[in-house]
Amino acid sequence: MNEQIFGKVDQYISNLLAPEDQVLKDTIKSLDEEGFPQISVTANLGKFLQVMAVLSNAKKILELGTLAGYSTIWLARALPADGKLITLEVEQRHSDLARKNIGKAGLSDKVDFRVGKAMEILPQLIENGEGPFDLIFIDADKPPYAEYFEYALSLSRPGTVIICDNVIREGKILDENTSDEKVKGVQRFNKLLQSNKNVTATIIQTVGVKEHDGMAIAVVNRTDPS
Ligand code: SAH
Ligand code: DHB
Ligand code: MG
Repeated sequence: MNEQIFGKVDQYISNLLAPEDQVLKDTIKSLDEEGFPQISVTANLGKFLQVMAVLSNAKKILELGTLAGYSTIWLARALPADGKLITLEVEQRHSDLARKNIGKAGLSDKVDFRVGKAMEILPQLIENGEGPFDLIFIDADKPPYAEYFEYALSLSRPGTVIICDNVIREGKILDENTSDEKVKGVQRFNKLLQSNKNVTATIIQTVGVKEHDGMAIAVVNRTDPS
């Protein structure tokens, strides 16, 4: 098998099941216009997030890492009329761009933009009693993924779905001697997933129009593990 087939099949699936409307296409374009990185989730993974939000009947969603709001749009579109999504972003310019894109998507009343370091905002969310969330999507900087996951657990209830992007990094996670801080961060997170008995978790390896990577999916257990 060659890598081309993965891209072609990804395109086939997204044409079928995750076609981008103009707002999503313009959101991707807005990143180039601003010179921001093209590191949004793919259309199919955006749809996957949406499926997870529907599956978990999510009314309250928390996202770490807004960028241009591309994944935010996919997730917020799964919310009921009274649903809310809080999205955290450290770069004011990213958050401002996302606010515009979310406005064009007609989702402004559902999305709450918080600007600052996730590590500083997360304890505030806990302190202010803004949890529990039904679904949490972790997609900010990679080195503190394990800490983000612990905070996510504190903002959860039994049944909460926690999804983490970029936990395979083209297989670089196999290298135990890596000096890449991003890879080390997700390796530490993946080990935490293994040892934490309060969640039922797995990692889905992803290939397609973007580089080989993976998404972790964890559900907070409803009963004590036997
Ligand atoms: N979820 C987005 C992509 C997010 S890219 C999508 O799929 O559409 C990662 C984002 O996390 C970037 O915008 C980056 O600025 C932001 N980020 C990096 N470090 C952060 C931190 N410490 N706290 C919050 N956001 C951070
Ligand atoms: C990077 C971050 C992401 O969230 C992503 O999906 C791909 C790459 C990065 O920081 O390199
Ligand atoms: Mg990502």
